[in-house]
Amino acid sequence: MIPGFFFHFLATFPFLTLMKFPSHITRRGRSLCAPDEWKVLFPFPVNRYELMMDAFGRFGLLINDRVVKTPIALASMAGVVDAAYVLERQENAGLAFIGGYCIDAPTMDAAKIVVADGGRREFLVDNPVEELKTQLAMFKDTHVIPGINLRGTTPAAFAAVAKELGDSVVYEIDAHCRQPPMIAAGCGEYYLKNPRELCAVIRALKAEEVTVSVKIRAGIAQDDRQLAIDCWKAGADILHIDLMDFGAAKLRQIRNSCPLLLIANNTINTFDRMREMLSHGADMVSLARHADERTLSGLDAAITRYADEDGWYNSPKQLCRGGDVRALTFCCMPVKECPLIPTLARIGMPREDYIQMKLGAVRDTPLEGGKQTCFGSLAWCCKTSSPCMFRDMTLKTSGLSKKEYMRLKRDLSDTIMSRVFHDVPPDDQC
Ligand SMILES: Cc1cc2nc3c(=O)[nH]c(=O)nc-3n(C[C@H](O)[C@H](O)[C@H](O)COP(=O)(O)O)c2cc1C
Ligand code: SF4
Ligand code: SF4
Repeated sequence: MIPGFFFHFLATFPFLTLMKFPSHITRRGRSLCAPDEWKVLFPFPVNRYELMMDAFGRFGLLINDRVVKTPIALASMAGVVDAAYVLERQENAGLAFIGGYCIDAPTMDAAKIVVADGGRREFLVDNPVEELKTQLAMFKDTHVIPGINLRGTTPAAFAAVAKELGDSVVYEIDAHCRQPPMIAAGCGEYYLKNPRELCAVIRALKAEEVTVSVKIRAGIAQDDRQLAIDCWKAGADILHIDLMDFGAAKLRQIRNSCPLLLIANNTINTFDRMREMLSHGADMVSLARHADERTLSGLDAAITRYADEDGWYNSPKQLCRGGDVRALTFCCMPVKECPLIPTLARIGMPREDYIQMKLGAVRDTPLEGGKQTCFGSLAWCCKTSSPCMFRDMTLKTSGLSKKEYMRLKRDLSDTIMSRVFHDVPPDDQC
């Protein structure tokens, strides 16, 4: 409970809410990258503050030191998604990528050809930096975290934009566009075939200390898992994946390859599809063609309800039912031949280390107990969707609700993730 005087203080000084979080982009306060700093987290009046505290408890996502209200992002559509488009949908979006905007001469020329030849819409502007400043100013009073989807052909072009616009925006590299003039200019899909150049752009942006997202189309790079690792090594924070027809199995492969914040994209127009993505490793989903008010508000309401009831909005499936590496949180002791064994081998974790890691992570937490359960501790127990009277009896006697149990399992999975992806591979070759 937050004491009432705190809200009174905030009502008096609503623009002064300072909190210490370990990074500019985190899941539940656990750093995915950068350094400790004091930051203004809630530059809003008190009722909005309460709303955002609820959202942080529910989803635990911070981007650019700001709470993400809902794990729904608006994906860019050139010539369509600008700040006005975002403001019309702000109630049900947590993050939005405006653009794509062309930021150098080769991509601006390519955009003109795209419009002339294909009749497609583009944002054709003479001074992209000034245009972006105008657009970003319109985000001032909204909780939606701004992102800009950029088409450029050199690391210097991206760095120049970051120098002008600063660190309160997410810089998304468009490695997705498949329009032939854009690819010929050396951006969009070109980067998926030329990962060294993509990594050079990531590094140039990170040198400006900004948050970097890479928008990719699955199935174009030689190996999407290696691409994810390369982006991680180069310093990217977010991977925004258009899954095309590949579906959840592809997403799981990428989840199992890197610790980046993952946004799953393509035809997320039902709650079933949203949950499918979240249960295979996505932290957020994004919508472009289906981002109408009805779909967005339906998804937002459904995921909020799910999080409030279940406790873990993007809980994975159990490992033996196709879950990703986070599902180790629900796995038991390695005592039988089941998918746990090859998973531990793949991540290079000896069985004894796995046992010690889980026991260590739950020590002095309510998950430590559970003498009546199969392996003597709730650390080894299954998801609440698998019925079990022994686990449920233990929860009851320890006064833990199923929702709290799932929250604790979520924390355990964060510890597992930080152990599995503890060492960033050396940035030698990408
Ligand atoms: C008209 C149109 C323009 C698009 N422009 C961009 C763009 O500039 N940059 C980008 O990364 N993706 C762009 N996309 C791709 C979308 O962001 C999204 O990845 C794709 O439409 C699949 O998601 P959806 O099923 O939610 O539409 C565009 C898509 C459409 C339909
Ligand atoms: S340890 Fe249990 S939950 Fe994990 S894969 Fe094996 S049988 Fe499934
Ligand atoms: S006690 Fe129940 S929930 Fe726990 S490991 Fe055994 S079967 Fe799974």
